[in-house]
Amino acid sequence: MTKRLGVLTSGGDCAGLNAVIRAVTLRATQGYGWQVFGIKQGTMGLMSRPVEAVPLNSDVVDVSLIRQGGTFLGTTNRGNPFAFPMPDGTFLNRSQEIIEGIRALKLDALIGVGGDGSQDIMYRLSQQGGFEYIAIPKTIDNDVGLTEQSIGFMTAVDVATEALDRLQPTAASHDRVMILEVMGRDAGHIALHAGIAGGADVILIPEVPYRIELIASKIRKIFASGRNFALIVISEAVLTEEGEKVIITDHSGKSRYGGISHYLADKVSTLTGAETRYTVLGHVQRGGQPSSQDRLLASAFGVYAVDLIAQGKTNRMVTWQNREVVEVPLDEAIQSYQAVDINGSIVHTARGLGISFGDRF
Ligand code: F6P
Repeated sequence: MTKRLGVLTSGGDCAGLNAVIRAVTLRATQGYGWQVFGIKQGTMGLMSRPVEAVPLNSDVVDVSLIRQGGTFLGTTNRGNPFAFPMPDGTFLNRSQEIIEGIRALKLDALIGVGGDGSQDIMYRLSQQGGFEYIAIPKTIDNDVGLTEQSIGFMTAVDVATEALDRLQPTAASHDRVMILEVMGRDAGHIALHAGIAGGADVILIPEVPYRIELIASKIRKIFASGRNFALIVISEAVLTEEGEKVIITDHSGKSRYGGISHYLADKVSTLTGAETRYTVLGHVQRGGQPSSQDRLLASAFGVYAVDLIAQGKTNRMVTWQNREVVEVPLDEAIQSYQAVDINGSIVHTARGLGISFGDRF
């Protein structure tokens, strides 16, 4: 039977989204002969009237998409349909409009590419609307549960690693301590992975409380040993030593992480006398070409998600476990937030290399 399949990207973008849209389209159209519709701007496209969607086929999703950053369908990380912010400052439940949008497009099933927040919303919508839904995890933060990797993470790690590669020579030229602030929201995966790959001396992540004095003593030891520079990686959500969040609040009152590296640079410089500089890497980690690993993951997830729909499955999430794509119940994945395992082998590796987490380990 010919199905009508929708695909949307939701939440913050990352590298590999176009590759997954391509994989979904190719598998559905060539493998099963279905019609595919790409929904614009995540759930916003389903709220619009007329619904904003474009037919997708192998002509539209040519091979160049596998290399392109961003998402050509657009996305949003604002506008939870269950509490949608209205211009007058109130919040409206617009979930039923989305369900009606799915019906207007006559979709038999929907694939949503998103992080934990988006998948939670999509799960609730599918329960309310009774439509078939398959989730694909993406986020540079890599904090979605039950999958070893989400699309976009490894590219972000590569970008942060390259930043350390570039900071190290300039640090050595000027006898400086360079501090790199990376994204990741409340999870320290990017800092941890890039810190090891980029040869950091100190890695600070939200999962491990630190003391500034211990960081300072590590830096002093490095300089005392004859090395004239040091590299520190810090996750954006690390708190100040006093336990305060460092956030930026915009004119509308919305806040986001940013600026902890400035705080740390000042403290380290005061305590050690070393000259410090900080770099906030920001959205560079989300844009640009996906790494080969993310292209592969996106392709594997896209094909498998379509196969699940062909098998009549719903409310499942595709995940990467033990070198395989497998499926898990979506509600279980949503409830399994994945912070850094501080007793896991990656943290153990970092400690084994002599990298400090600013704690008394
Ligand atoms: O969740 C992905 C992410 O890039 C986080 O790492 C970061 O804190 C946040 O999104 C930034 O969001 P925005 O694009 O709204 O600034």
